[in-house]
Amino acid sequence: MTRRSWKSTLASVLPATFALAVTGCKAQARYPLDTLAPTSDLTRSIYDLFVEVSVLDIIVLIVVVGALFLGMLVFSTRTGSRRQPSVKHSDMYLEMAWTIIPALILLAITVPTVRVIIRTQPYTWPKDTLPVEVIAHQWWWEFHYPTLGVETADEVHIPTGQTIHFELFSKDVIHSFFMPQVGGKRDVIPGQENQITLVANVPGEYYGQCTEFCGDSHANMRFRVFVQTPADFQQWVKHQLEPPVKPSSGPAAAGAKIFANAPCAICHTVRGVSGFSKEYTYGFRGPDLTHFGSRSTLAGSIMDNTPQNVARWIRNPDEVKPGANMPTLGISGGEMNELVAYLESLK
Ligand code: CUA
Repeated sequence: MTRRSWKSTLASVLPATFALAVTGCKAQARYPLDTLAPTSDLTRSIYDLFVEVSVLDIIVLIVVVGALFLGMLVFSTRTGSRRQPSVKHSDMYLEMAWTIIPALILLAITVPTVRVIIRTQPYTWPKDTLPVEVIAHQWWWEFHYPTLGVETADEVHIPTGQTIHFELFSKDVIHSFFMPQVGGKRDVIPGQENQITLVANVPGEYYGQCTEFCGDSHANMRFRVFVQTPADFQQWVKHQLEPPVKPSSGPAAAGAKIFANAPCAICHTVRGVSGFSKEYTYGFRGPDLTHFGSRSTLAGSIMDNTPQNVARWIRNPDEVKPGANMPTLGISGGEMNELVAYLESLK
């Protein structure tokens, strides 16, 4: 390529790259898995560390690359320079400088890094800490609040201003619990309890996703985190503790009978209707559906909770979430409408 065509290529590529970078930054701001939008003490400390280290990196980059270019300019024969670099075989001060300065830079990175690592692995918790058990399944998330008696799936609610201690367990393979804005990321490993401890600050609905390849539907293993004010959270807990709706007439009542007689009740709990102890005997179980209608998503939080989507999921689970343990039940037509009406009535 001639020098001219290099220049014209650069002239067209550079603005395009810049435009891409700018639109990329803009898209990032509304991207649901934004890792640079901390909303808890934990993600804030990780974010601050990232900024601190990045600033140091940029200073080092500018100094090193600047010195390189300066050397090239000053000693270049092309610019007609007659200056020759002097050769030194031993200079104690220079050698001390390039040993001590990098050591200080490494220290400036190590100290805050270790501080954040210790911060993210606490061994003690405040008295009013709220424990939340997170149990990963292929491919959905089970959430237990052992001190509150609440159980839910794929959507976890937490209050602001209170220490939350997520205890992470896996029922099958290695998963990873990733909720970038609220709690960062941690692997969920069978036979080992990992933890995430945080205080959330900003109420809102946040996205989460499994980030360890865990089989066919790894990409369909998502969840939502609802950060609420303490009053809203108490209201939610109160509602979750209420017994399920028992429809007495209409399609929902017919659907309740279908639910109890179809295989649904083998895997899914609706408190007082079906269910089994936490230490179930089957190799797998489905989400607790006692208040299914109050959730905004379903099937690993990949679809909005609408009657059409519930019917689509029940009709052919494998089409929605390949490899899912949920079997095809062969329910259709009027029966399907009744079953969906019942599930949606479980507010
Ligand atoms: Cu669970 Cu990927």
